[in-house]
Amino acid sequence: MKNNLLVGQISDTHFVSNNKKLFDQHDTYQRLLDTVRTCNQLKNKPDFYILSGDLIHDDESYYKEFFEICKNLERPIYPMMGNHDKRDFLKKYIQPELVDEHGYLNYTIKSNSLDVICLDTAIEDKIEGTLNHTSMQWLEKELKNNIEKPIIIFMHHPPIEIGSILFDHIKCNNGEDFINLISQYKNVSDVIFGHVHCVFKTVINEIEFSSCPSASIQYPIDAKSEKNLNLDNQGYIKLIHFIEGKIIKKDLEIK
Ligand SMILES: [Fe+2]
Repeated sequence: MKNNLLVGQISDTHFVSNNKKLFDQHDTYQRLLDTVRTCNQLKNKPDFYILSGDLIHDDESYYKEFFEICKNLERPIYPMMGNHDKRDFLKKYIQPELVDEHGYLNYTIKSNSLDVICLDTAIEDKIEGTLNHTSMQWLEKELKNNIEKPIIIFMHHPPIEIGSILFDHIKCNNGEDFINLISQYKNVSDVIFGHVHCVFKTVINEIEFSSCPSASIQYPIDAKSEKNLNLDNQGYIKLIHFIEGKIIKKDLEIK
């Protein structure tokens, strides 16, 4: 296996069926088609795509059409749970090895040079997230099993506040415990999350925490109220270039 990796990330597609609109306004069906087309037009194609949660908006029947469209990406896809996803339905469309022994979507994508850990932070029927006891144990075991190779971690909910009145109260509610755990492992370089529908980046304990904005709609990070929000219909794809043992750059591809 080669040492360089290009990881594509698509987040918060909030897919709805062809004849529907998200909030009666946003055509997230068309946005997914646009996302796939943009991905397929990239000069350097990612080795695989992480779909970091909120794949569909609200109806599990959308998964069938969602995954049919995603097949056109022509690369392996790794779906994750978001707060809008339905775990039992999503499991029907993914490889069984992406589900841990307790039924959560915790898994590691291994390569010669890098391990990519994807975590399940969703609490069924709640908007906020958590890393429950068994998921935290699963993560600790994965980290202990690999103390040398670089690791990047994907999770839907941010483990930190980003300064948003819309999202800070619905983050991963035990993010501090998570950060305390991963900070013990010097080979963890990055944590990348979705959920917040905006661009954000910070560094804590030498680990970079960054968001992947939504592939469908963006929320203003500096919104002063939850009412009358002017949502931005711009969509993004995140590209993470891992070259010669470390992450060299992260691009946002706008479509
Ligand atoms: Fe979302």
